[in-house]
Amino acid sequence: MAETATAPAKVAISVKVNGTVHAADVEPRTLLVHFLREQLGLTGTHVGCDTSSCGACVVHLNGQGVKSCTVLAVQADGGEVTTIEGIGSEGSLHPVQEGFWEMHGLQCGYCTPGMIMTSIAFLQSNPNPSEAEIRYALEGNICRCTGYQNIVRAVQYAATKMSSAPAD
Ligand code: FES
Ligand code: FES
Repeated sequence: MAETATAPAKVAISVKVNGTVHAADVEPRTLLVHFLREQLGLTGTHVGCDTSSCGACVVHLNGQGVKSCTVLAVQADGGEVTTIEGIGSEGSLHPVQEGFWEMHGLQCGYCTPGMIMTSIAFLQSNPNPSEAEIRYALEGNICRCTGYQNIVRAVQYAATKMSSAPAD
């Protein structure tokens, strides 16, 4: 007897993304990156490999930088996600975004959202890093254009700017 294919059951999740709560039904196999891009339309988070190598898909999940191609959407249920769309705003860039702008830390820009999200999470844990520490922190993010030198300078720029900002 021929088997009939049945669509996988969907799971209801609720995730706060960039400050807004989104309730949605997802397949249990749905990756967080696909949920963000295809269901929420947040295409600033990129897919460069799908094998956890490139870092183009990095977002913050509950304050930690994660490769969203290695996280299931259901694992984010009840959590808070920040994507590149939630960082800075037109006319008011985050210091890391400003660093990439000022130091020419990008060319094609494909890796840049992941680079920025990784750098922000890194600087939150290490506000005054050495060059070697910056390079180590970014080892999971691949750039095929820049040669990395200006990306490191961008993070150094941001670290200096953030450490000299007046406390709230
Ligand atoms: S798409 Fe996630 S690490 Fe490359
Ligand atoms: S700027 Fe092109 S991949 Fe990094």
